[in-house]
Amino acid sequence: MSAGDRKGSGGGKPPGAGRGARDLKVEVKRSRKLSHSSQLWLRRQLNDPYVKRAKEAGYRSRAAFKLSEMDDKVKFLRPGQRLIDLGCAPGGWCQVAGERIGVKSGKGKVIGIDLLRVDPVPGAEIIQMDFMDEAAPQRLKDMLDGPADGVMSDMAANTTGHKKTDHLKIIGLAEAALDFAHEVLSPGGFFLVKLFQGGESAALLSELKRDFTTVRNLKPSASRADSSELYVLATGYRRERGGQP
Ligand SMILES: C[S@@+](CC[C@H](N)C(=O)[O-])C[C@H]1O[C@@H](n2cnc3c(N)ncnc32)[C@H](O)[C@@H]1O
Repeated sequence: MSAGDRKGSGGGKPPGAGRGARDLKVEVKRSRKLSHSSQLWLRRQLNDPYVKRAKEAGYRSRAAFKLSEMDDKVKFLRPGQRLIDLGCAPGGWCQVAGERIGVKSGKGKVIGIDLLRVDPVPGAEIIQMDFMDEAAPQRLKDMLDGPADGVMSDMAANTTGHKKTDHLKIIGLAEAALDFAHEVLSPGGFFLVKLFQGGESAALLSELKRDFTTVRNLKPSASRADSSELYVLATGYRRERGGQP
């Protein structure tokens, strides 16, 4: 996960969201032990209204706000759904999805996977594994034990700073997520994936347009304005599970 996603969550805009650097309240003392970029990251975290609100709401990541905002807008999460959460650490999306599908009252299922260890999230089943490992799709299918109503991917490889390389890495993850979605989604299901604007996403988008009734670009306000991150939500899966177009 990107450093900025580690803390934050909830639903709706937190007070102060969208304010610029001029409004920063907490300054970080210069330290020889921290690199300049670490100091900038720390300053951004300490002054991020979503991070504060996530702590208050008991969410594990500011990313939780992104999912709740997108669902408030489009309403693709429904009680009883069976969902896959790819790149789920530290668990913010598992928390929000679980609440919205009703796992507490025994409805639905959330299956998550991440390279990193994730502390248990009530109602979710999570494995620590590389999704790109060839054994991962079958592991997830075994856990799912049936079709999925939605596949969500917030996977992001560590950025290198080289734009083109970073775009290619995220497209690779998004394409693998979509291949997996074809194997598990039931007709009518949804696919939500993180991309970067300006990436090599034309082939992926045309595949989504072919196989889903509606494809939307979403930029939740919890996604930093200065980040090229965006989400693509495809709803109304048109194919039979594992079938041909
Ligand atoms: C932005 S974070 C996810 C935040 C999460 N949605 C939340 O709400 O807490 C992206 C995650 O993708 C994971 N990731 C990246 N590549 C992966 C891979 N190949 N397999 C599994 N997880 C991966 C990273 O370890 C990281 O935790």
